[in-house]
Amino acid sequence: MQSRLLKIIEEAERGRPMTVEEMTDIFATDDEDIRRTLFEVADRVRHKSVGDAVYLRALVEFSNHCRNNCSYCGIRPGNRQVKRYRMEPEEIVEALAVAHRLNIGTAVLQSGEDLWYDTGKIVWMIREIKERYGMAVTLSLGERSYEDYQAFREAGADRYLLRHETSDPELYAGLHPGMTLQHRLCCLRQLKELGYQTGSGNMVGLPGQTCLSLAHDVAFIRDMGLEMAGIGPFIPAEDTPLSNAECGTLDVVLREVALLRLNSPLLMIPATTAVATLDSQGRQQALQCGANILMPNFTPLRYRERYRLYAGKACSNESFEQCIGSMFGMLSSIGRSVGKGPGHSLKGSGVYI
Ligand code: 5AD
Repeated sequence: MQSRLLKIIEEAERGRPMTVEEMTDIFATDDEDIRRTLFEVADRVRHKSVGDAVYLRALVEFSNHCRNNCSYCGIRPGNRQVKRYRMEPEEIVEALAVAHRLNIGTAVLQSGEDLWYDTGKIVWMIREIKERYGMAVTLSLGERSYEDYQAFREAGADRYLLRHETSDPELYAGLHPGMTLQHRLCCLRQLKELGYQTGSGNMVGLPGQTCLSLAHDVAFIRDMGLEMAGIGPFIPAEDTPLSNAECGTLDVVLREVALLRLNSPLLMIPATTAVATLDSQGRQQALQCGANILMPNFTPLRYRERYRLYAGKACSNESFEQCIGSMFGMLSSIGRSVGKGPGHSLKGSGVYI
């Protein structure tokens, strides 16, 4: 078993995609040598395919209103303890000025699914961010109509993040009342068709999730030809139906990050806030086994506390300067540089590092 899995990892380094069965075995193994080799090889593939630069994405979490009642999420409407907020469009654009001054090349606009922000408001923000700062714009607004996705794209949005959360349709249905995995995948296909650099991703350690289902998550991201994927541990949120469930583990998150890097060498993979919340070394470990993106939080401090998707969310009372300062320090300690420019996906660009 050991030599078989080591051989599979070596072959992946040379470009052979893994089967779902092989990935399931790699998720499940308790062999320390395999785990270490997996992380080392993924780090090497990351170095060869996307280089040593880590790109920063300035995140603004602009509204915690949401129409979906996902059972894991701290800002679900069923959670009456949450104080709701909506930032004004001008305030959102203004919050990015400091990120622009710090030379960050991408703005990420994220919120609950909040239709108060109609087509016109979102289009206005995209245009303003482009005009004032010339930044790349990533949207993370959940499921919207095709017409909305099209209007946002025409206004200049470059990328869209929409996690599939889990590729297991039954698990998905159980966690997302009234929603289907099928519809989520339909949105992802529309985004791709409209020419967005498209990102998805899943949580790790959801109650009932298996190694097989995680292997399917990796295969799904690869086979859809996505440009970006965010992976984080499930962390129970207070006042939700899953508040007493077990957390996902750092180890399994790192295995998925590494498998993604091996199977989709050019993928943009963030070291997520959820990973940092789980373990103070989590972000840097993720960067050392495949990840190449960081997403510092530029949500004004007065709202930060209220965008609590899960308990103990990292950086929730750190200023931008503190957050950026500690990221720069961490990057130089692991020999990585800060990416310059927008940091677009290299897929299809013909650029190989
Ligand atoms: N634990 C970890 N991640 C969560 N998210 C939402 N709730 C939780 C939680 N309890 C993630 C989802 C969502 C992203 C914005 O945050 O994957 O897509």
